[in-house]
Amino acid sequence: MDFYVVANWKMNGSKALCAEFEAGLANIKTDKKIIIAPPFGYLSQFSNLTTAGQNCSQHDSGAYTGEVSATMLAELGAKYVILGHSERRQYFNEDNQLINAKIKQALANGLTPIICVGESLEEYESGKTKTRLKNDLSECLDGIEADIIIAYEPLWAIGTGKTPTLDEISTTHDYIKSLYNYAVLYGGSVKPSNASEISAITNVNGLLVGGASLELESFKSLF
Ligand code: PGA
Repeated sequence: MDFYVVANWKMNGSKALCAEFEAGLANIKTDKKIIIAPPFGYLSQFSNLTTAGQNCSQHDSGAYTGEVSATMLAELGAKYVILGHSERRQYFNEDNQLINAKIKQALANGLTPIICVGESLEEYESGKTKTRLKNDLSECLDGIEADIIIAYEPLWAIGTGKTPTLDEISTTHDYIKSLYNYAVLYGGSVKPSNASEISAITNVNGLLVGGASLELESFKSLF
């Protein structure tokens, strides 16, 4: 199975950063699949690297001011789209039903969705991680048969510098794999100091990286 390293730039970056990554990663020798998810306005700045959107609309087209469709992402060269990121769930009220509709749009336009799921700190502390993941995945993936990618991102690990233990990541990835035979990425405070030990875990098929993906040297040291 392929191993993915996905840079989620969130609402960060510039034309200059796109150019630096394009040049800096163009001839890199790696057997890993490197994917850059810049804000969608910058997708057209990439021609060598594989790109992803960070979100797409559940609609095809129409009067939805401020939205971007899966068709547009595909036209701008994206091959993947991150959907259901916890920041979308938290700040833009996205729920599993909406994410399910977005997944269908993405697939209809030839994009591979990267679906994010993760438990809250309270759920983690009370042993409810598996229940939360099973529920979110079954609702998000209702009626979906196509090959997609899952990203396990504990909410309390995103941007906090905290991560589950390697054993916990391993157990959770094994669990997700027992439910769905898709690639499962880990995300949440991945950085140069922990990337190789997390990547070495069986059933970790890639990394979804926020903060540490914003600087070329730091990103390169993750793979
Ligand atoms: P982080 O973000 O690497 O900054 O924790 C990961 C993510 O939100 O995808």
